[in-house]
Amino acid sequence: MDNNKKRIVLVTGATGGLGTAMCKKLYDDGFLVVGNFRSSSKAEEWKNEMKNGGYEIELFKGDVSDFDSAGQMIKEIESTVGPVDTLVNNAGITRDSRLINMKREDWYEVINTNLNSVFNCTKHVLPGMIERKFGRIINISSVNGQRGQFGQTNYSAAKAGMHGFTKSLAMEVAKSGITVNTISPGYIATDMVMAVPAKVLDQIVAQVPMGRLGGTWEVAHLVCFLASEETSFITGANYSINGGQHVY
Ligand code: CAA
Ligand code: NAP
Repeated sequence: MDNNKKRIVLVTGATGGLGTAMCKKLYDDGFLVVGNFRSSSKAEEWKNEMKNGGYEIELFKGDVSDFDSAGQMIKEIESTVGPVDTLVNNAGITRDSRLINMKREDWYEVINTNLNSVFNCTKHVLPGMIERKFGRIINISSVNGQRGQFGQTNYSAAKAGMHGFTKSLAMEVAKSGITVNTISPGYIATDMVMAVPAKVLDQIVAQVPMGRLGGTWEVAHLVCFLASEETSFITGANYSINGGQHVY
């Protein structure tokens, strides 16, 4: 397909575990994929690995927890690649501890990176989407934003906040051909989850009816589904993907 006709997808936190899988699957599905990264150290290596695997994916530097940095990055993408049709708000961090021990910066860093980033990026792509009467906004939340998790008051608050954002914005832009949805993954095998102490993680996996961690490709598949043209009547929704860990 001619690159000029492809839908452009921006994945934030592209070089992470889930971001990488999303970029590959979106590329395989025929999207023009651009990724965001924060730390330069990984970027070149990541791009080379992608290229060796047959994936031509441009990376753009930006700190999504910062409004101006996110805006600058999106401006650069739109002037060099083209307008962003689909935004996947995927970048995120954990700073786990019980609230009693939580440092003030661990609260703010998580809220800024996991929740304020959604505002910071969406705000900059939305006017163009409204003008073009098409858009897909996909917010990567978490099972722990649905049900809470011991040691994650900051993370669960940010991820739960995404649901309110999704539902409200979905109503505001429904008539502009833009859908806004949330995906809530359970525990997926990436560096983020592998940082959980092994003993604690074993206990968590034991509570998953499927008895295993999720695969990054499984979440990537759902992202592609929501990014597709055919899901135009799905908006304000949340998709759980957690192996049965949280059913309601
Ligand atoms: N429920 C109830 N009590 C618990 C508990 C739990 N889940 N976990 C620990 N406790 C209790 C302990 O038994 C202990 O009790 P006592 O003092 O009576 O012995 C007390 O809490 C303190 O436990 P720790 O010494 O382990 O506490 P800590 O402060 O050193 O560590 C923690 C706490 C950092 C939260 C650690 O338990 C941890 O890392 N937990 C995992 C949190 C988690 O699931 N994070 C997910 C990261 S991945 C991700 O976020 C992706 C996603 O979206 C799914
Ligand atoms: P990961 O491998 O740690 O990747 C996270 C990515 O986010 C990294 O590329 C990281 O870049 C990037 N990032 C962090 N802060 C950023 C910032 N300020 N600006 C730009 N990029 C930033 O984790 P993951 O498991 O793939 O997680 C991806 C998303 O899925 C997160 O939002 C996470 O909360 C969510 N999620 C994960 C799971 C899971 O089980 N893995 C479950 C539910 C939800 P650097 O490497 O440069 O820091």
